[in-house]
Amino acid sequence: MNLLTQDIPKIYEEAQDFMPINGTDYLELYVSNAKQAAHFYKSAFGFQSFAYSGLETGNTELESYVVIQDKIRLILTSPLKSGTSVGEHIDKHGDGVKVIALWVDDATQAYKEATSRGARSFMEPQKIEDDHGHIVRSGIYTYGETVHMFIERKEYEGVFMPGFKAWESDYSPEHVGLKFVDHMVGNVELGAMNTWVEFYEKVMGFTQIISFDDKDISTEYTALMSKVMSNGNGRIKFPINEPAEGRKKSQIEEYLDFYEGAGVQHIAVATDNIIDTVTQLRNRGVEFLRVPDTYYDVVLDRVGSIDEDIQPLKELGILVDRDDEGYLLQIFTRPVNPRPTMFFEIIQRKGATSFGKGNFKALFEAIEREQELRGTL
Ligand code: FE2
Repeated sequence: MNLLTQDIPKIYEEAQDFMPINGTDYLELYVSNAKQAAHFYKSAFGFQSFAYSGLETGNTELESYVVIQDKIRLILTSPLKSGTSVGEHIDKHGDGVKVIALWVDDATQAYKEATSRGARSFMEPQKIEDDHGHIVRSGIYTYGETVHMFIERKEYEGVFMPGFKAWESDYSPEHVGLKFVDHMVGNVELGAMNTWVEFYEKVMGFTQIISFDDKDISTEYTALMSKVMSNGNGRIKFPINEPAEGRKKSQIEEYLDFYEGAGVQHIAVATDNIIDTVTQLRNRGVEFLRVPDTYYDVVLDRVGSIDEDIQPLKELGILVDRDDEGYLLQIFTRPVNPRPTMFFEIIQRKGATSFGKGNFKALFEAIEREQELRGTL
C-alpha cells in the first residue's frame, strides 16, 4: 500500500475495522425466469444490460443476467434444469435475494476473519480467472439461507467477472437515476433479532447505530422491532427486523410465512432527484404503496420547511421525515414478486442519516390495507 495515496481518515478507519468493506458489489436474486426478470428490471426500473452467463458461456446448469444502474448491480439467476440448489431455493422461497455481495480488498482475509469469529461457511476462498485477470471470492451464511459473498476484484479488468461475457442488447431504456444501495433490510424470526445483531457485531465488526421498538413502530395491528447495523465506513447498513406481538398478523410475519423463513425484505436504492425518479418509475408501471392524502395536510408541520413543492410529493405519494441532521424523502414499492415478500424503497437523503421513523405509522397502515386485500392481516 502506498501511504501517500491514502488520506488519514481512511487509515484510521481501517485500523479500527477488521473487515474493511468498500461497498456493495452486487445483489444476486434467484428467480424463476431470469430472462424475463432482466427485461422487467430494464424496462420498469431503468437498469441496463451488463453481463451474461449461461449455455453460450459454457454454463450448463444456470443462466444469469447482470443488469446495472450507476453503482447498483443485480444478478438474476435461474436454473437450466431440475434438481439444482437454485431451483430448490426458488421452490421454497419464491423469487428473492440469495446473495448480498460485498466488495473487499482481500476476500481470503475477510473469510478468515468471519469464519474464525463463528460464521458458517458458504464458499471457501476461490480464485477464478479468464483472459482479463482474476477475482477471489468467498462466502458466509447470514440470516435464513441468505449469503454474503466477499468479492476481491483488484486484479480483474473484464466486464464483470470470469464466467460472464458482456451482454449487448439492442433494447436499452433510459436509466431512472438510481445511484447506489443505501441499505438492505432483513426480516428475521420472532426472538432472532438480537442473534443477528450480535452476528454483525462479532463476525463482521459492525456497530448498531439505531434501534426501534414496538413503541416506535406500532399501529392498531402491527408491531415490529428493528436494529440498524453499520460497517465501519457507513457504506453498508443492514436494518434487522423481527415481529412483535400485535393484535393481528404483522407484515413481518406475513413475510416470514410467505418467504418460509428469514430473508431480505427490502432493497433501498438512492436517487438525487426522487420526484423525477419516481415519476419515471410510475410511468413505466412500477407500483407504489399509497398513504392517505391527509398525510400531506400535516407533513410540513412535522418536518418543517423542505426544498421541494408539496404538490408533486402528494401526487406521487412520496413521504418525508426529518432527524437532527436533515431530512429525507422516501417511497416504497409494492412487492415485486408473486409472494408478498421483497420490495424496493426509493430514498433521497438531504442530510438525514436515519430511516424514516416518522413515516412508519402511515406506512404500516398502508401495508395493512394491502394485507387486508390479501386476506393475510
Ligand atoms: Fe428502508
